[in-house]
Amino acid sequence: MFIQPLTIRNLTLENNLFQAPLAGYSAAPFRLLSWRLGRPGLLATEMISARALALSAPKQEKYLLRYPQEGPVCFQLWGADPESVGVATRIVTEKGADVVDLNCGCPVRKVRAANAGSKLMEDPILVGRLVRAMRENTALPVTVKIRVGTDARNYNGVEIAKIAESEGTDLVTVHGRHAKESYSTPCRYGEIARVVDALSIPVIGNGDVRDGESARAMFEKTGCMGVMVGRACMGAPWVFAKIKAEITGEKFSHPPAAEVGTLLLEHFDLLAKIIGAESAVRNCRKLGSFYSKAMRGAKEFRNGLNYCHDRESLEKLITHHFFNHNCFAPVGDRLE
Ligand SMILES: Cc1cc2nc3c(=O)[nH]c(=O)nc-3n(C[C@H](O)[C@H](O)[C@H](O)COP(=O)(O)O)c2cc1C
Repeated sequence: MFIQPLTIRNLTLENNLFQAPLAGYSAAPFRLLSWRLGRPGLLATEMISARALALSAPKQEKYLLRYPQEGPVCFQLWGADPESVGVATRIVTEKGADVVDLNCGCPVRKVRAANAGSKLMEDPILVGRLVRAMRENTALPVTVKIRVGTDARNYNGVEIAKIAESEGTDLVTVHGRHAKESYSTPCRYGEIARVVDALSIPVIGNGDVRDGESARAMFEKTGCMGVMVGRACMGAPWVFAKIKAEITGEKFSHPPAAEVGTLLLEHFDLLAKIIGAESAVRNCRKLGSFYSKAMRGAKEFRNGLNYCHDRESLEKLITHHFFNHNCFAPVGDRLE
């Protein structure tokens, strides 16, 4: 009943679970694993600077890479200049995007200083102009990802979403926190529900979804048409399968440790082909901590990652921790 196909403009997704855009993480290797193990309805790139893309697309190649074996992918842009957002929309369309999204939620200082990301929540007119620029440059579905407001005094998610809708957005994702809130504040379901009620296009609820129960809460408390999962899929590309199973009352078994170790190594190998083994090993310090988040002895494993300098040492460490004994503690999936 909750999990069902979803049509956005001319694109029908096989289900309404969305993988969130995750900077530094949701590149093609992660999306491939996510599609294979969890099969969400829509995958997402990390946010890509529209300005950088418009200036030099070849320099942004690693963000644009998309494997043919992936499912539908949303390319997310960040920027505040309608002209470069328009050009970038055309570029990602040519590069094989299935959906193009505008980031109106990023709280990072550098992004806000460029009047982009969550800073856009303060400028409804500019959001309208940016969406229009996207709409004029692609026939693909155009979406926006917003917060519920600018700060505690201004819950203007409805206003921003309505402007985006009037300029041709096909779907809005709402992260249930305002632009100044951190993850320690629980998701504001009521504010997401207000956006759902105000729009006639689909609204996706985002915030704190990690399993069947939390996904069900998002659906029930907001009336949203789908849910987006961020932190819970990091190091757990199977989480979408878990949500699908649990929401219908089935039990989902966490993959065995050896399988998780194999996935981490595969993730590394895919990354190494794109950014080179040296950078991929450094990247694996972060990746490894996600993949080991439900693991007993994770601290020792994470320490060991600091001493890995090539594939051989990484494989040895993974083998020791993931293959030699079943080291997963039955703690389930945590949000970190
Ligand atoms: C490491 C990290 C990177 C993120 N990068 C992006 C991004 O590039 N674009 C974006 O719109 N949101 C980004 N977000 C926010 C998530 O997409 C999502 O809205 C947020 O984490 C709330 O969902 P969750 O509670 O399921 O994690 C990022 C979050 C994290 C933790």
